[in-house]
Amino acid sequence: MAGSTLSTRQTGGGSLPATYVTASGLPRYNPLAQALHWLTAALALAVLPLAWVAISLPNSELKGTMFTLHKSVGLTILAIVVLRIVWRMIHPAPADPAAPKALEVIARINHWLLYAIFLIMPVSGYLLSALSGRSTAYFWLFTIPGFEKNEAVQKVFATMHVVGQYAVYLLVALHIAGTVWHLVVRRDGLLERMLPVQDGRGSR
Ligand code: HEM
Ligand code: HEM
Repeated sequence: MAGSTLSTRQTGGGSLPATYVTASGLPRYNPLAQALHWLTAALALAVLPLAWVAISLPNSELKGTMFTLHKSVGLTILAIVVLRIVWRMIHPAPADPAAPKALEVIARINHWLLYAIFLIMPVSGYLLSALSGRSTAYFWLFTIPGFEKNEAVQKVFATMHVVGQYAVYLLVALHIAGTVWHLVVRRDGLLERMLPVQDGRGSR
């Protein structure tokens, strides 16, 4: 089956290699899009607790370490999300002909807002730090210089960063709830679009 093509109604009329079509006939995201998606998800799960711990610790070496980790993971997310957006522009998302149009539009809006907030958070985080005159260490590997201290502008980015976290919680919660709904209620195999082939096709 590997290397052959499936031509199905669900692929939007086109032909895709068998490994790019899910068991229920939906077209999949390509492997790099999948890998970068799950990497972002894992890093998102790390960056938040690091922030919660960092802000709640009293001034200490550990607090500094937690902040360095929070900032470094956040900057890594920024790089990956930029790469994802560029990759996504070259490789549009696979069509989902099984979904009602309104649902597809809501999902697309959720996806673009996720990209937006995962750009806004690291950029505002870096600027709130940099505009207080601090340089930012990236995993103790190298340092990104800060700017001249500017309290007024720094405050704007600090507010953006602190308020922005609620958009992260809301968008990620909706995104996961949507996935669970597809998995449990619609049972349309949507999660598989973001997973590598599950049944051994393409492994031979
Ligand atoms: C996806 C990326 C990021 C997310 C989701 C995120 C999230 C958060 C959250 C939830 C807080 C706690 C806010 C509060 O309740 O006070 C926080 C604080 C903070 N973050 Fe981030 N962050 C990200 C990236 C960054 C980056 C890249 C930097 C710096 C290079 C940074 C610097 C800071 C600083 C300095 C604070 C403390 C702010 C304060 O207490 O005034 N963050 N971040
Ligand atoms: C455990 C957590 C997560 C699950 C279960 C999950 C699940 C999924 C699934 C199933 C899709 C494919 C949707 C479709 O076929 O139309 C998807 C797409 C997407 N996910 Fe997630 N996701 C998670 C976390 C995240 C996080 C943290 C982000 C943050 C950036 C994110 C951003 C996206 C984006 C932007 C897309 C659309 C990709 C595109 O069309 O360019 N996901 N996710």
